[in-house]
Amino acid sequence: MGTKEQQIHPVVDSTAVFKETIFAGKVLFCTGGGSGICKGMTESMMRHGANAAIVGRKLDRLTASAEELSKSTGKLCLPVQADVRSPEQLRAAVAKTIEKFGRIDFVICGAAGNFLAPISGLSENGFKTVIEIDTLGTYNTVKATLPHVRNSRGSYIMVSATLHYRGTPYQIHVSAAKAAVDAISNALAVEEGPHGVRSNVIAPGPIGGTEGMDRLSTKDKTATDWGLITPAGRLGDIRDIANATVFLFSDAANWITGQILAVDGGNEHLRTTQLSYPQAVLNPESFIKPRL
Ligand code: COA
Repeated sequence: MGTKEQQIHPVVDSTAVFKETIFAGKVLFCTGGGSGICKGMTESMMRHGANAAIVGRKLDRLTASAEELSKSTGKLCLPVQADVRSPEQLRAAVAKTIEKFGRIDFVICGAAGNFLAPISGLSENGFKTVIEIDTLGTYNTVKATLPHVRNSRGSYIMVSATLHYRGTPYQIHVSAAKAAVDAISNALAVEEGPHGVRSNVIAPGPIGGTEGMDRLSTKDKTATDWGLITPAGRLGDIRDIANATVFLFSDAANWITGQILAVDGGNEHLRTTQLSYPQAVLNPESFIKPRL
């Protein structure tokens, strides 16, 4: 990470910029909201007045996160167990949210699956599984929520990635899945715009303290000085993604739809690869413990 002197773009909380009441009376439905980036996005929405339903597979983790979020924000957070691969489970999750809160204004399609695997070690089922969670999960979430989001003239944010802008090794499954997620959002924005619905994508760059960074970055934790290879001078923080979320859902973004916003400190403009290429590809064990 960059030194203090380099941090000319410090992390801020959205409440220092936006009013704390802008989402009062509104309801957020967030898949993947039990942990990591999506939990941070949910928390910031709640800090600005929204109630929320967080959806995921692990009820114990969801319940603990919902309690924590309710306590830290003073708003209501409902934990709802559902696998985004199941349209039935998602429809039931939406019904529970409507029963509790009566409306859905904002939807974050955030549930995702990822692991590092070279194509030689990735089974057909492994590829399919990530497509099912990320791409079909996003589609299923849109299908289950759209009537309510139309009613409220609400808005979607899909959580994507920057991996697929280039050929990222060991991420063929996720790259394909996220490219499709971007396409879903673009088409949704065009079709639903006349019904009052907006849809945008946030593509997080490298975000510190997340499961993704812990599990997916190079084994050598000292190898990357993010302060040096990121124009904004530091590694990303969950709050950076949360702040972009508050802006895109706010009325200040009313004329922004069908966009893909990389929130990455400018990293994508400089990214080559974290790997020593082609050595790491020729010897995957220098990077991960692959299934060959
Ligand atoms: N390398 C290669 N293949 C892998 C793998 C890895 N590291 N991890 C999973 N797979 C394959 C499995 O072998 C299986 O394929 P197979 O039946 O041909 O063997 C397929 O993917 C499905 O795996 P499974 O664990 O049965 O599916 P699941 O639905 O329980 O979970 C994930 C899928 C992606 C969610 C799981 O890998 C996971 O829990 N990942 C960590 C959580 C996560 O992804 N968080 C997001 C961080 S950004």
